[in-house]
Amino acid sequence: MLLGVNIDHVATLRNARGEEEPSVIQAAKLCIEAGADGITAHLREDRRHITDYDIFSLRKELNCKLNMEMAATYEMQKIALELLPEACCIVPEKREEVTTEGGLDVASQIERITDFVTPLIEAGIQVSLFIDAEKKQVSAASDTGAQFIELHTGAYSRAFGKKNEEEEFIKLKQAAALGHLLGLNVNAGHGLNYKNVHRMHEIDGLHELNIGHSIISRSIFTGLDSAVKEMLNLVNKN
Ligand code: PXP
Repeated sequence: MLLGVNIDHVATLRNARGEEEPSVIQAAKLCIEAGADGITAHLREDRRHITDYDIFSLRKELNCKLNMEMAATYEMQKIALELLPEACCIVPEKREEVTTEGGLDVASQIERITDFVTPLIEAGIQVSLFIDAEKKQVSAASDTGAQFIELHTGAYSRAFGKKNEEEEFIKLKQAAALGHLLGLNVNAGHGLNYKNVHRMHEIDGLHELNIGHSIISRSIFTGLDSAVKEMLNLVNKN
């Protein structure tokens, strides 16, 4: 499995003071030097963490896979077509949420999402749809032409160690199997941490995990290099 490190939280910390530290670019470089397979950054409509300047600087200064998370808006589509990241992950966005709460409802808007992702795919970007682990969302995603899905692991992460862990885990496993059957590449992310990530190995054929909060949190105590390496050890373990 590959590891994409989500560096939004570095920008959140920087923006708390409105100045330049900590540097998002420096953090991203450290993650890559530590062995991460790519950098993930969410350019939100309200720019609460990553800014336009950040995302274009990441593109310019880092020679690595960039995964731009974004809402399905035409403002974001225009930016992505100019930026040309290797990957785009389309997420739902609500202004009042603290983080991406649920998956994108593709099933109720297949046509709109198809129209939205087509220019991105034609521009050579790998498009992923961030969805809940539900059969109807997986099959709708495959109808849009997107090559990837990213399964929302938030419910599993919250259930980890509790009595509904197995139920949430099985949903992920079944959604991944259906995705593969329909020819999709399957990623996963949200809420994964050093304790719960190991079960991702029980899901056949996952391509990439996108992890942010737990890595950046641990880096406060251990440094970013070590936090990324520790996660890579868990992600790469057979
Ligand atoms: N994947 C997607 C699509 C996300 O929106 C997020 C959160 O920004 C993540 C992965 C990473 O989640 P976390 O910060 O909880 O690891």
